[in-house]
Amino acid sequence: MATRSLLLSLLLSFLLLLLLLLLASPCLSASRGSFLKLPLLHRPSPPRSLFRRGRSAESPVTSGAPFGAGQYFVALHLGTPPQPLLLVADTGSDLVWARCSACGVGGGCSRRAPGSAFLARRSSSFRPHHCYSASCRLVPRPSPARCNRTRLHSACRYEYTYSDGSLSSGFFSRETVTLNTTSAEAKTAARLEGLAFGCGFRASGPSVTGLSFNGSQGVMGLGRGPISFSSQLGRRFGSNKFSYCLMDYTLSPPPTSYLIIGDGPGEDNAAPSSTLAFTPLLANPLAPTFYYVGIKRVHVDGERLPIDPSVWSLDELGNGGTIVDSGTTLTFLAEPGYRLILAAMMRRVGLPAAGSAPPGFDLCVNVTGVRRPRLPRLSLVMEGGAVLAPPVRNYFIEVAEGVRCLAVRPVETERGGLSVIGNVMQQGYLWEFDGDRSRLGFSRRGCAAAS
Ligand SMILES: *[C@@H]1O[C@H](CO)[C@@H](O)[C@H](O)[C@H]1NC(C)=O
Ligand SMILES: *[C@@H]1O[C@H](CO)[C@@H](O)[C@H](O)[C@H]1NC(C)=O
Ligand SMILES: *[C@@H]1O[C@H](CO)[C@@H](O)[C@H](O)[C@H]1NC(C)=O
Ligand SMILES: *[C@@H]1O[C@H](CO)[C@@H](O)[C@H](O)[C@H]1NC(C)=O
Repeated sequence: MATRSLLLSLLLSFLLLLLLLLLASPCLSASRGSFLKLPLLHRPSPPRSLFRRGRSAESPVTSGAPFGAGQYFVALHLGTPPQPLLLVADTGSDLVWARCSACGVGGGCSRRAPGSAFLARRSSSFRPHHCYSASCRLVPRPSPARCNRTRLHSACRYEYTYSDGSLSSGFFSRETVTLNTTSAEAKTAARLEGLAFGCGFRASGPSVTGLSFNGSQGVMGLGRGPISFSSQLGRRFGSNKFSYCLMDYTLSPPPTSYLIIGDGPGEDNAAPSSTLAFTPLLANPLAPTFYYVGIKRVHVDGERLPIDPSVWSLDELGNGGTIVDSGTTLTFLAEPGYRLILAAMMRRVGLPAAGSAPPGFDLCVNVTGVRRPRLPRLSLVMEGGAVLAPPVRNYFIEVAEGVRCLAVRPVETERGGLSVIGNVMQQGYLWEFDGDRSRLGFSRRGCAAAS
């Protein structure tokens, strides 16, 4: 009996939450099949996420920054009148947040310096969620999470932690967002009301401050959870789907990368879902943010390596697994799989080791004077049979003139190590994250079609 009433009340609160989410869904009049296409900018600045991520804190590894690795950013405007911001596009987290400044209270900071924080007080559309609201239950709260239900202005405080210990905290709020979109026809500005986002008054840790965060004012979470940018917009577009192309920024001139929210142009133009290879997205109830995929086999130069696929699969406790993360730069693979890949690469590389190599890389070769260095080919056979065989430059990155290093790092399996396919490995592909059909599509031919 007790169980049943508990279930019933759980069900009721779930339905209530669903209803509130629907009501809270921002009112962009978007018909099915429409989409937003946003340019992704790249900065070769030190990325935060060469740091390991996951649910357990891990030690930082070498920054790829000096080697030109980095993050992808989305430009948008927040508030009324709109204030420009630059956010890191991150499929490895859910919360959308921007650095906020309290100035503007009593006339301070009369002008907003470029690159500075969002001035909530200067926006007429800024609305903090009440701490007792259903929306507030969607964000992690600081403890103790005090909430005076009867007080009118009792803002919802959030505290969002990244696994390297970095943290953003502030008020979970609603705001109007303006996005420049491009389409075949025209450049237009899309205005969306009531986007739930974190107005961050405090940020700490390497992921979200200082050098590693240079030039950006927050994070656009694109994870699977209900508060991510993609989930919020997906509810309005009627399709829980987004895609992006991360173009190789070492090319010159660098091609434009895109983030497409919604069904995308592929559905009606001559394009490319037929050319996409699909692998199922796997769910982990303990980490509902992440886009998990399954790696079945690994080949180096066609040789199948004797790796038990359980090395990178999710276990019953929700540990391990492999995610696809735009906010992590390098790729991280669980031991002992990593060791076997490294050994196979070393056996086959046939080029002299670099005399000096930056710390944090296990294999660096000297390609000075070699016109077309031949490097071993890596290919991953994914769950469902799709084969990810990225170009060599996606995993042998140039770290200095004439020196190329294997841009893959090991993860300890014993501590429930999470394997991560980072953004360098994703370059040059169209990636389609389809929450409705729980599948991830990728194609090397999709990027041209998307641009
Ligand atoms: C949108 O486009 C306008 C005009 O091209 C530009 O002034 C503005 O800065 C752009 N906004 C963003 C967020 O990129
Ligand atoms: C909550 O706020 C109301 C109105 O401001 C106040 O009267 C009441 O004492 C507060 N309750 C607590 C527990 O702080
Ligand atoms: C941020 O990057 C710019 C160049 O893009 C550089 O001049 C500046 O010093 C950097 N700031 C920090 C804090 O690293
Ligand atoms: C690479 O090899 C060249 C000679 O072929 C040498 O001059 C150079 O110092 C080497 N560089 C590194 C980093 O080992």
